[in-house]
Amino acid sequence: MAANPSAGPAGEKRIMCVGLVCLDIISVVEAYPAEDSDSRCVSQRWQRGGNASNSCTVLALLGAPCSFMGSLAPGHSADFVLADLRRYGVDVSHAVLQPDGCLPTSVVIASASRGTRTILHASGNLPDVTARDFERVDLSQYKWIHWEARNAAEQVAMIWRVEQYNQSRPAAERVRISVEVEKPRQELLQLMGLGHVVFISKDLAQHLGYQSAPEALQGLHSCVQPGATLICAWAEKGADALGPNGELVHSDAFPPETLVDTLGAGDTFNAATIFALSAGKSLQDAITFGCQIAGRKCGIQGFDSIV
Ligand code: ADP
Ligand code: FRU
Repeated sequence: MAANPSAGPAGEKRIMCVGLVCLDIISVVEAYPAEDSDSRCVSQRWQRGGNASNSCTVLALLGAPCSFMGSLAPGHSADFVLADLRRYGVDVSHAVLQPDGCLPTSVVIASASRGTRTILHASGNLPDVTARDFERVDLSQYKWIHWEARNAAEQVAMIWRVEQYNQSRPAAERVRISVEVEKPRQELLQLMGLGHVVFISKDLAQHLGYQSAPEALQGLHSCVQPGATLICAWAEKGADALGPNGELVHSDAFPPETLVDTLGAGDTFNAATIFALSAGKSLQDAITFGCQIAGRKCGIQGFDSIV
C-alpha cells in the first residue's frame, strides 16, 4: 500500500472532505445470491468506507495532503477505520468522537461476475458533525473543502462560514467549495445552490426523471449558483459537466479489462476530479482524469493500486 505523509511540502494547502466514514463488510460472490439461499462467498473483507472517507483515500493515493472531517463512535470498528485513515496519511484531527451511537456499517455484496455492488447500510444513529465543530477548522490551511450532502442545515452554515472567510481574502487565498448531492432526499437539494463545484449522482438524476447526464445538467443548471460548475458521472457512460460559462464537456468512461469492483467508483471520480481542478486543470481534463482513475478503480478490489 502506498501511504502518503499526512503533511504536504511546507506551505502546501490541504483538501478536506466532510462526510461519512463507515465500516464496509464486503462479501465478494461469484453471482448475486437468491433470496433465502445459503452459499459461500469467494472472499470477505473489512474495508473503510463512506463517500468522504473513500475520497480521502483516493486524494491521499494521488499525493494530495488531505483531511477527513466526520463522526466517529467508540468501539472496534471505529478504531479500525481511524487506524486505516492514518495508515493512508489522511489527517484526522477534525474527526469528531461522538459519545452516543455506533459507527455506521454497510454490508456489501460485490458480484465478481457482474461488477455490481449491492449495499445495505445501517446509519448507527450517529449524529453528523455540526457547524459548531466546523468552527474549529483553521480555513487558512485549506485550498478546497468538499461536502458530501448529509445534514443539510448544518452544512449550509459551514459553507456560509467559508464564503464569509473568502470575502475577506484575496482570490489566491480563497477556499474552493464543492458539494456532492448523491442521495435523493428533498432536504439535500438546497445544497446544489451552494458551492463552486457541484457533483450530482446518476441515482439522484434518475430519481428526478433524467435519463442521461447531459439531460440532467440541462435540467438542473438553474439550481446551481451563477458561475458554478455542475458535474454528473454516469457509470459506464463516463461523465458530463457544465462549466462556469455554460460550456458542456464530456468524458467517456475508461472501462477496465475486467470489471472487478465498483464500490466507491463515484467517490474515486469525485476525488480525482477535485484533485485535477485544484491543480488548475481545465474542466475537460479534470473529468477525463476523474474517469481514468475511476475506471482503474473498477478493475481492482479496493483502492490501493489506482495510481
Ligand atoms: P457511483 O455509483 O459509485 O456513485 P458511478 O456509477 O456514477 O458511481 O461512476 C462513477 C465513475 O466511475 C464513472 O464516471 C466512470 O468513470 C466510472 N465507472 C463506474 N462504473 C463503471 C463501469 N462499469 N465501467 C467503466 N467505468 C465505470
Ligand atoms: C460507496 C460508499 C460505501 C458505503 C456507502 C454508504 O460510495 O461510500 O463505502 O458503504 O457508500 O452509502
